[in-house]
Amino acid sequence: MKEIILNNGVKMPVLGYGVFLVDPKECERCVTDAIDTGYRMIDTAQAYYNEEGVGEAIKKSGIKREEFFLVTKIWITNSGEEKAEKSIEESLKKLKTDYVDLLLIHQPFGDYYGTYRAMEKAYREGKTRAIGISNFFADRYVDLCNFVEIKPMINQMETHIFQQQRQLREYMKKYDTKLMSWSPMARGENNIFENELLKNIGAKYNKTTAQIALRFLIQEDIVIIPKSTHKERMEENFNIFDFELSDEDMNLLKGLDKKESLFVNHYDPKFVENIINY
Ligand SMILES: NC(=O)c1ccc[n+]([C@@H]2O[C@H](COP(=O)([O-])OP(=O)(O)OC[C@H]3O[C@@H](n4cnc5c(N)ncnc54)[C@H](OP(=O)(O)O)[C@@H]3O)[C@@H](O)[C@H]2O)c1
Repeated sequence: MKEIILNNGVKMPVLGYGVFLVDPKECERCVTDAIDTGYRMIDTAQAYYNEEGVGEAIKKSGIKREEFFLVTKIWITNSGEEKAEKSIEESLKKLKTDYVDLLLIHQPFGDYYGTYRAMEKAYREGKTRAIGISNFFADRYVDLCNFVEIKPMINQMETHIFQQQRQLREYMKKYDTKLMSWSPMARGENNIFENELLKNIGAKYNKTTAQIALRFLIQEDIVIIPKSTHKERMEENFNIFDFELSDEDMNLLKGLDKKESLFVNHYDPKFVENIINY
């Protein structure tokens, strides 16, 4: 598996498997299928309520813990130093491990500076190999980077062909944080799987629209975590390392950027109220 190197020297796979909206009852089966397919990075979160299923599948796989790259995220209701610290212990217990590979703050709301301090402590104690954030747009990201001791290694953001995050990426280069995409296939929105440009480019390389959308992100040095509950799609999404998009095709795909979210607006107070009460 191709890897990227984080700002603390830790190597991270560029492709993993995400379990947002995977029913807790189905999670163990899905992660087992993903592991059988070859995925070794799994992205979960406290707010997905399926950390137990992830832990169970990893344990039952019989594969050494060190071969996995396990990611979880601290939810808003666990924000603040003390609560976050306790929630990290709970996540480790649910995941049946004594460390994760990457801990993220899920949303830039609540006492996230307190949460960040708890993550720095967990990092120093070896309970996580890397720390980072998610959904931090350029303003909050720059602020955070200037007031923490350990710079975030990852920012996980909505990133796909229709939202390429180019402005944010400029700032992330400056503070040496890598971009991890959530919803790399736009969760199917905007008719992505029927997109004409993706179809035309796919026909040239004998690849599907999903594979072209994912390969584009990897060639832009973005880590991806596509989700599917279907094994054949997990395989399809995994088989993107045997071809390379030309510069010309990359440029055409860059042209699909709408520079805005297909899902949410983090600057809308209604959204903030909803998510705080989630
Ligand atoms: N940090 C955050 O705030 C945040 C937010 C959202 C997501 N995430 C993370 O990012 C991961 C991925 O994002 P996502 O789950 O929102 O969206 P996604 O991976 O872009 O898309 C998943 C959707 O596409 C379908 N699909 C998957 N592969 C396909 C293929 N080859 N052909 C056609 N359809 C396909 C899936 O259906 P089936 O399952 O039915 O196959 C599912 O409906 C999440 O699971 C989660 O780990 C993080």
